[in-house]
Amino acid sequence: MDLQFSRHRRLRSGANMRALVRENQLHAEDFIYPLFIAEGEKIRNEVSSMPGVYQVSLDHLETEIQEVESLGIKSVILFGIPATKDACGTGAYHDHGIIQKGTRLIKEKFPDMLVVADTCLCEYTDHGHCGVVEGEKVLNDESLDLLVKTAVSQAKAGADIIAPSNMMDGFVAAIRAGLDEAGFIDVPIMSYAVKYASAFYGPFRDAAEGAPQFGDRKTYQMDPANRMEAFREAESDVAEGADFLIVKPGMPYLDIVRDMKNHFNLPVVVYNVSGEYAMIKAAAQNGWIDEKSTVLEMLLGMKRAGGDLIITYFAKDAVRWLREAE
Ligand code: PBG
Repeated sequence: MDLQFSRHRRLRSGANMRALVRENQLHAEDFIYPLFIAEGEKIRNEVSSMPGVYQVSLDHLETEIQEVESLGIKSVILFGIPATKDACGTGAYHDHGIIQKGTRLIKEKFPDMLVVADTCLCEYTDHGHCGVVEGEKVLNDESLDLLVKTAVSQAKAGADIIAPSNMMDGFVAAIRAGLDEAGFIDVPIMSYAVKYASAFYGPFRDAAEGAPQFGDRKTYQMDPANRMEAFREAESDVAEGADFLIVKPGMPYLDIVRDMKNHFNLPVVVYNVSGEYAMIKAAAQNGWIDEKSTVLEMLLGMKRAGGDLIITYFAKDAVRWLREAE
């Protein structure tokens, strides 16, 4: 027998051998944990479409952050649920808005925890769109002014990173200029550079109570069919001064994650969105898949695709499972 072939199985012979040649690893510091902060008191409501995810009021925030910090997770991204909404989304840029209050509380009690502020209007507008609306049209430049106000008030409250998610053109340029002018030249922008108009955001809209009241987001978020458009979006954001590039959603867009990693030299962030979370939770609750191994495989896939960081509702569970495995 003088067959010529490769023996790939040599490097899979046992757990230690496999560990020796493993190309990607997940770490607690890879994760950004999303939090939904609600105006009010003694609120800890589980989101029905996202088991294990809660809307919490400020009085529950400290316990939440304590847990996140004790797991070694270094950053959280904040979404707000205001008491009232209006046409201009005043709650987004009010100095006593829910995110501003939440940020101040976190930074006061946990100065090392990195606070990423999601900068958008949809949770604060009564029409649920991410910008200013005229009739059924979402206006671009008029929205920029409000986004700048939002970002500056978030930075003033102590936010470490500004993450604009509204998909208006020019948002990075406008926010960068606004932050610089207000003296926040050192606050980075984590741009939702490549954000698709996705059905996978459904459960988030329950959690953040920000579903559009008419129409959809297709005039500002990207068409799922497009790849070249992702390069155009990211190129503008890089030119305008973005410090991180987010690709969103994660699982169905890992080709785009790889494209961004190969093409740009900024940290790439994958947003493992609410629908991806809900699908795994539902299947696991039915006993159809094993939650722990499925989640870790999915998150590892995001890193392998080129994600440097992952925004995920599974962050706390993932760290616990990784620790168990040590
Ligand atoms: C707000 C925003 C959305 C998400 C993050 N920021 C919803 C949307 O664009 O409709 C979705 C996150 C998720 O589904 O987990 N613009």
